Amino acid sequence: MATLRVLLSAEQIHTRVQELGAQIDRDHPNGRVYLITILKGACFFMADLARAMQTPARLEFIGISSYGKGKTSSGEVRLTKDLDVSIEGHDVVVVEDIVDSGITLSYLMKVLAQRKPKSLRIATLLDKPERRQRPVEVHYVGFKIPDEFVVGYGLDYAEDYRNLKDVCILSE
Ligand code: IMP
Ligand code: MG
Repeated sequence: MATLRVLLSAEQIHTRVQELGAQIDRDHPNGRVYLITILKGACFFMADLARAMQTPARLEFIGISSYGKGKTSSGEVRLTKDLDVSIEGHDVVVVEDIVDSGITLSYLMKVLAQRKPKSLRIATLLDKPERRQRPVEVHYVGFKIPDEFVVGYGLDYAEDYRNLKDVCILSE
């Protein structure tokens, strides 16, 4: 039977997301930021982060698949939905739910850098640094977490559990 244990409460997440919003504001004093959200896991994080910022934000979405239905990356990354707009000359923050092996983001950052944004940074709610296989420079990290499989606040296991308010450790 699957069990869920709260790792980060909705309240803890809220507090930290406000801090990250303020940090993004300080780094972008000259105005508009493009928040590029990686579907679907980062949706709730983006929605809260965007509202924690004073800087005007444009919201764009990108789809990437690397995981399939299991708990580990297949290692194969595919763009399943591209951006609808050009990011050339704009300040961009890629919004991700969790950086694990780093395979997804190292691929995506290469793709986006070729499109000549003015700046390109990453904001992730969660980081599992122990699991890194590819280096990625992450500017904004909500929480560093241990090597456990987590769900909730957007994160899923085989598409379930995304709408839990807390981030929970899932074990079977
Ligand atoms: P990476 O390419 O290994 O860094 O994988 C990043 C993606 O794997 C994230 O965007 C998540 O979709 C998924 N992922 C990694 N760890 C977890 C987890 O603990 N729970 C849910 N999804 C995860
Ligand atoms: Mg994801």
